[in-house]
Amino acid sequence: MDMKIALGVTGGIAAYKAAEVTRMLQDLGVQVQVVMTRSAQEFVRPLTFASLTGRKVITGLFAPEGAESTPNVESAIEHIAVAQEIEALLVAPATADVIAKFAQGVADDFLTTLYLATKAPVVVAPAMNVNMWEHPATQENLRILRERGVRIVEPDSGYLACGMIGAGRLAANESIVNAVMETLEGARDLAGETVLVTAGPTREPIDPVRFIGNRSSGKMGYAIAEAAQRLGARVILISGPTALTPPGKVEFVGVETAEQMRSAVLARMDEATIIIKTAAVADYRPKQVVVQKIKRKGEMNLELEATMDILAEIAKKRAQQIMIGFAAETENVVENARGKLDRKSLDAIVVNDVSQPGIGFDSDRNKVTVLTRDEQIELAEAPKSTIARQILKFVATLKHKRASAVAN
Ligand code: PMT
Repeated sequence: MDMKIALGVTGGIAAYKAAEVTRMLQDLGVQVQVVMTRSAQEFVRPLTFASLTGRKVITGLFAPEGAESTPNVESAIEHIAVAQEIEALLVAPATADVIAKFAQGVADDFLTTLYLATKAPVVVAPAMNVNMWEHPATQENLRILRERGVRIVEPDSGYLACGMIGAGRLAANESIVNAVMETLEGARDLAGETVLVTAGPTREPIDPVRFIGNRSSGKMGYAIAEAAQRLGARVILISGPTALTPPGKVEFVGVETAEQMRSAVLARMDEATIIIKTAAVADYRPKQVVVQKIKRKGEMNLELEATMDILAEIAKKRAQQIMIGFAAETENVVENARGKLDRKSLDAIVVNDVSQPGIGFDSDRNKVTVLTRDEQIELAEAPKSTIARQILKFVATLKHKRASAVAN
């Protein structure tokens, strides 16, 4: 496996154990870029890790004092380069301090800045005094990190360096390495797949300056596109107008109307192995588009006609693709979505109750139910990035189940 991770080492008596974790990961073919906090260097010298890995250990955002009179610009932007090239960030041992900084988004050194800058999955192996571990502040910070999808390798219980007995001892090296390897393997769940994602609203013109639109921001669809790419898939993102920047390497197709989205989906669907339709496509459009701006006068009626149901159409044309729809509902949420699952012949439908404040349209968070013909999976409220990862994990499982059914 040719993979690269960053290993953050923070200041604790268990810092020396990170050297053995580094060696074990390297034995499994993982390249390790070590990042040490200032306090970690009080416990272990960077030279230990530099000798093990054969690469420079990153010890700060800027050049060491005295080395240069001005900040080292190359080093100041290095966290961005490292953030983009790693496939996982492991922090072992992780102190209560670094866990609190991660939870609160404090970025005051290389490691905490790297955490904010990277989209790679994060594994944290805490080690601290039992009272610090059990403190409500630490437990609340861990809850926040778990909710964001950070994997916590629970500490072991036993004699601690401080002389106390209890939880807080760094987990066994094997447990930490297993968690990283599972994360890296999970990070490739969609390798070899091409995922076509539709996102955002459509705009149906009334005249040159007005349109019928909806409240979709594209956030849910872009989160799915980004997560699919992270899981190793090639991604085609077909999007209506949004204020968002398409994620890194996706193949982006911008559209405006339902009809343009339909053409784009039909043109690209054969390339896809998985299709996820997050877009809020207009169900109706003006029957006629007026060429000049309509002047204000008394009452006005707009005659509307139905747009084509893209999802229903492609479900009929599909070859072997897994096809997932979304449903935005305001009442009888599950019943209505079940109807769409059947009518549109989908493998699954993800339903969100868009009447709930703080989730659904234009929010950073969502709470959804994934429905298949025989399953109903509730995903608790979380950031859309977390929901996207959970949905794609579900899709990967569906794909594997289908592949093994064909093989048998
Ligand atoms: O973009 P955000 O602000 O992040 O908000 C996310 C979201 C609420 C838009 C998203 O989570 C969501 O629910 N998307 C589906 C919205 C929707 O149009 O639902 P629907 O129940 O009207 O349509 C059901 C499915 O049919 C959808 O997959 C839709 O893409 C598809 N459809 C609908 C109409 C049509 N003419 N063609 C279609 O393909």
